Amino acid sequence: MSYLLHIDASSLGEASISRQVAGSFRAAWRGPVVHRDLAVSPVPHLTAAGISARHTDPARHTPEQGEAARIQDELITEFLGAGAYLFTVPLYNLTMPSVFKAWLDQIMVVGRTLGFTDSAPTAGRPAVVISARGGGYGPGAPNEGRDHLIPTLETILGWSHTLGLDVTSVIPELTMVPDIPAMADLIPLHEKSLAAAHEQARRLAETLDRRAA
Ligand SMILES: Cc1cc2nc3c(=O)[nH]c(=O)nc-3n(C[C@H](O)[C@H](O)[C@H](O)COP(=O)(O)O)c2cc1C
Repeated sequence: MSYLLHIDASSLGEASISRQVAGSFRAAWRGPVVHRDLAVSPVPHLTAAGISARHTDPARHTPEQGEAARIQDELITEFLGAGAYLFTVPLYNLTMPSVFKAWLDQIMVVGRTLGFTDSAPTAGRPAVVISARGGGYGPGAPNEGRDHLIPTLETILGWSHTLGLDVTSVIPELTMVPDIPAMADLIPLHEKSLAAAHEQARRLAETLDRRAA
């Protein structure tokens, strides 16, 4: 039976808002789950051995290529075996945490996971991205247009030439507002965004659970 692959990328454990919202998703999801916490167990960066191993006969792998290929194989097998995906990827420096980029670089391999010219093996599978951020990046916000995470991730995960997943993003905003006295007037907006994110996550889990059943 296929499972939900839940990848966590926030460095903050239980204090992470993305993880807390993911908790609402998980509480409503009844199927099996495989959980990988990149903050606790980061995957290595892609090395020259890892890239060259992809187009070298395994019988001719050096020990470094063999080890790099083993890591990629494990992550790709885990990725391809899932029927649905939950990614908690907070906004760090206007883009994704480096641990998540390292994971993407390991699993995105032409001929194995990438669509490129054909359809990706994961095409059409549902994926939920939960991305907390300290500021506000929505329409009319001072930071509008400076979110280089969600548009990038929706392309990497969702484009038919890459992984082709059916991506929905859940975005709790203004998470730093309660800690900044000068922004206290934005607390109601933060609370509204957070409550909406928990509700959206819960509903998505129920919908996807029914789709998977
Ligand atoms: C290293 C780092 C970089 C951050 N960069 C940004 C940023 O560029 N824009 C922003 O709005 N918030 C930024 N923040 C704030 C986080 O997005 C915010 O604390 C969010 O709640 C983190 O997600 P989490 O609670 O799931 O860990 C940053 C936080 C950290 C730790």
